Parts: sequence; C-alpha cells; structure tokens
Amino acid sequence: MIRGKQKLFTGLQPSGALHIGNYFGVLKPLVDMYEGFDSRVMVADYHALTTLKDADKLHANIMDIVRDYVAVGLDPKKALIFKQSDVPQHTELTWIYNCVVTTAFLELAHAYKDKRARGLESNAGLFDYPVLMAADILLYDTDIVPVGQDQKQHVEYAREIATKFNTTWGEAFKEPKEKILEGVAIVPGTDGKKMSKSYGNTIPLFGSKDEIAKAVMSIITDSSGESPSNVYNIHRLFKSERELAPVYKANKGNYKASKEALIQDAEEFIAPMRKKRESITDADVREILHDGGEKAREIAEEKMTDVRRRVGVSI
Ligand code: TYM
Repeated sequence: MIRGKQKLFTGLQPSGALHIGNYFGVLKPLVDMYEGFDSRVMVADYHALTTLKDADKLHANIMDIVRDYVAVGLDPKKALIFKQSDVPQHTELTWIYNCVVTTAFLELAHAYKDKRARGLESNAGLFDYPVLMAADILLYDTDIVPVGQDQKQHVEYAREIATKFNTTWGEAFKEPKEKILEGVAIVPGTDGKKMSKSYGNTIPLFGSKDEIAKAVMSIITDSSGESPSNVYNIHRLFKSERELAPVYKANKGNYKASKEALIQDAEEFIAPMRKKRESITDADVREILHDGGEKAREIAEEKMTDVRRRVGVSI
C-alpha cells in the first residue's frame, strides 16, 4: 500500500461487453487520474449475478473485463485489480450492514425502482445491491469513487450506511465522495438516451470495426435539423469541438457522411487499445486476479477484524 495518497475505488459489472459509455464515463477519467491515488479497481461479479444466470457467459465476461481494464491503460502493478467474489469479506460486511439498513431506505434506490418498472425479476440480491456496493467501497477506507451519474445515488447510500454503522458501533468507516466528470456523466446511446446494456442502445468499446459501424449507422437522427445531434454528441467524445466544427459544416444535411466520419474516428481511437487487448492472455488475467485478490483480502480482513470486534461477534 502506498502511504499518503488518497484512496480511490471503483468497479464495473461483468454483465456484458463494455460500451463507450463505460469507457468515457468512467474508464478514461480513471486512467487519467488513478496513478495519483492508491487505486483499487474491482470486477463486480456478484453484482452481475443479480441479472446474469449463465455461468459460461459470466465466466467469459470476467476474463474479458480484466482484459478491458488493462487494454484501456490500467497497469496492474500500479492499481489493485481484483474480483469481488475473491474477497468474501464483501458479502460478510453486507450482512452486517443489512442489519442496520431499513427496507424502506432500499426501496428508494433508483436502479432498483427502474428495473422493477421495466418488469425485470426483482430478486433479493437486486434489492440489496446498494448495500453490497457500500461494502465494496467502505472496506477500503475509500476517499473517492469515480463513476457515471447513474451511480451517484449508490455512493450516497454508501455514505449513509457508513454513518449508520458509525453511530451504532463507533467510527469504523470513512465517508467516500463520488467523482463524476462533467460532460461525460451520462454518455448518450444510439437513441439519444443514456447508453446502457439494458436499453440495447450501445456502441461496443471493443467490437470489431463492423460491429462499431453497424451501431453507429443505427444512431437515430432527427430529419428536421441540419446537424444530427445524436451523432454529434457521441462524436465529440472522440474529437474536440474545434476539430469537429469543419466536418459538420461540410456535411450539413448529409447525416450518412457524419456517421461515416464518426466510424473512422472511433476506429482510429479504439484500434490501438484493441491491439493491446489481443495480447493479454488468459494466464495474464489469472495472474492479475490471483495477486490482486490476495492483496485485497489482506486489506479487507484487517477492516473486518475491527468490525467483528465492534459488533460483538469476536470472542
Ligand atoms: P455498471 O457496471 O453498470 O457501470 C460501470 C460504470 O460505467 C458508468 N456508466 C456510464 N457513465 C456515463 N454514461 C453512461 N451511459 C454510462 N453507463 C455506465 C457507470 O456509472 C459506472 O461508473 N454498481 C456499479 C458497479 C459497482 C461499483 C462498486 C462502482 C459495484 N461496486 C463500487 C463503484 C464502486 C455498476 O453497476 O456499474
């Protein structure tokens, strides 16, 4: 552990292929800042289990997401990369938190309310999702949590849960703050709404050029305007407004040309990361997770030794 640095924690679910919303919303800002912090980046596999019940897919997604982390620029020697299920202290602490959190409080969580509204099965894991996320964050004395806007409420929950524990059993947990970057807090999808796996409006980060082209071509454009805002709002993630101004001026009224320019710019941006990703083997992934898991368990166990004593279960 590096002393003196603030502690950063974030995680992504291995619930499907990462998209450019994940990349620009959290991974790119993370890569830009993580070396200035004592950084922990988790694979939230137990969160993914709330929705994904196909073991082969979950396994493949876990291997993929670790490759993605490294391909976008996280160095496992400089950040602790680990898998949630390798650190049983996360689920242990979740249980203890469950005993001070009210069900009325959890019923207010946006992600749960949204999923229910869309008719998704609401298992107890989904309901308890913010409590597990609070355990993820609080176990590591986290100062900042880089996330997209959709996770803001969950970080607020982590703060509330820390306070609840601390007032019940004494000051064991630090209150973390979310770090949300303006301009990329909600990356739009091909329909202009928030890009999300569950809305089917994503552009895959590590898709083939053809897959990316297909997704870009499906961007919904408003035929009444001169410039397709849904295309532009995605394009501006890859190029500056200054660089894009002449392109959109030249392509006025020609939406196909703007989409083609976006495909080319996305491809140029993604190709080097895709190449790096191909060089990361399964053995590399296993080694990263093995080493990361070991270190994460050490930190988490130290915290849980204190927590078990505080709640009265240590003898
Ligand atoms: P998940 O896997 O849904 O999303 C991973 C990260 O990507 C961000 N994101 C976006 N940002 C901007 N625009 C978008 N369209 C967009 N879509 C997704 C999310 O905000 C998130 O930062 N519960 C978390 C995983 C998690 C976690 C944690 C995060 C588990 N434990 C502890 C931080 C700390 C989740 O489901 O993220």
